Amino acid sequence: MAKTQKIYDSNGTAVWAGIRDLNDKSDKPYDTLLETDRLDGRTVLITGASSGLGLAVSENLASRGARVLMVCRREAVRELNSVRAAGAPYGGTAEILRADMTDFATIRRLIDDLAERRERIDVAISNAAVVCNAARRTTDGFEEMLQVNALAPAVLLKGLLERGVIPNDGFSGNGRDSAALPASAPLPRIVVVASEAHRSAKTLNLQDLRKIEPYGMSDSTARYGWTKLLLLTFTRELGRRLTDVSVHALCPGPVNSNIAREAPAIVRPFAKLFFTLFFQPPEKAAFPVVYLAASPRIEGRNAGYQFLMRRRPPSEAADSAENGHLLWDTLDELLD
Ligand SMILES: NC(=O)c1ccc[n+]([C@@H]2O[C@H](COP(=O)([O-])OP(=O)(O)OC[C@H]3O[C@@H](n4cnc5c(N)ncnc54)[C@H](OP(=O)(O)O)[C@@H]3O)[C@@H](O)[C@H]2O)c1
Repeated sequence: MAKTQKIYDSNGTAVWAGIRDLNDKSDKPYDTLLETDRLDGRTVLITGASSGLGLAVSENLASRGARVLMVCRREAVRELNSVRAAGAPYGGTAEILRADMTDFATIRRLIDDLAERRERIDVAISNAAVVCNAARRTTDGFEEMLQVNALAPAVLLKGLLERGVIPNDGFSGNGRDSAALPASAPLPRIVVVASEAHRSAKTLNLQDLRKIEPYGMSDSTARYGWTKLLLLTFTRELGRRLTDVSVHALCPGPVNSNIAREAPAIVRPFAKLFFTLFFQPPEKAAFPVVYLAASPRIEGRNAGYQFLMRRRPPSEAADSAENGHLLWDTLDELLD
């Protein structure tokens, strides 16, 4: 683990660390995704469903019979059609729900709409993220990478829990204790797509989350790592606070996606070629996410973190209950 702790802190080292980790066969997958792991008739909400990993996960889930609610910031008609086509032979369906993670009002509107429709989400997957090439201020006055990667998932997931759209007893009183959820039903699940890059940040650094410090492309990976540390710390804390919702986090490993879309134009074609040659195709990278959403073999498990299909302890900072508590209180003050 000490190896990985040092090397996810710049663009170049993160890429090499990711490839090395991907090809490291020293720890074995603890299970495999099976064709029989299905989600027939179950509702899955997923953010960032319009590209890369999120799109591939959506297609895979639809092909397992799920009703996929694709949360996107844009119309994404082509992507919607491809998820519908993947689901059609197997009873899976899809629809687009609009929300922009840089604008909390759109996330709150989405939660209101779902609550009014009396939707019950079986699996919520927080996947949307961005790697910005410079600091940008969002509508809500935060730096964009911080808001999209860490604050928005907290607003969305807490909001869905508080309104009972993800049924649970702790936040909304509509879980199993209320008999609103039959005792035989599988527990709702939350799956958060984090990153091994979280190890590059050693402290939460919560002093002034509203401060927008300028950064450039060369600092973007370190900054991204910090946002993923906040996300993973939040996810672990959420897992500690929920007894009747299973919470999982993972790093999907290096994925040939559009994550480097803000790399300098001159670098992009080489990056694309490199990603194609050495990173996993999104369809393959989707397996661990789909596994965490669909496998009955992890029913009732809570607050795990994994890299691909290998169980791994998160960094000390992400795992610390004290940090989790502190972050929770900070987010409550900042976002409520
Ligand atoms: N790629 C990797 O090597 C890698 C490694 C470790 C972890 N991850 C994680 O995997 C997840 C998926 O990333 P990816 O690799 O598939 O990247 P991607 O192809 O760039 O997909 C990112 C998704 O997030 C959406 N998104 C970005 N900003 C948004 C906003 N403001 N509001 C709503 N949606 C927004 C994008 O929507 P648009 O289509 O509209 O842009 C897109 O659907 C992320 O959490 C990432 O951190 C990726």
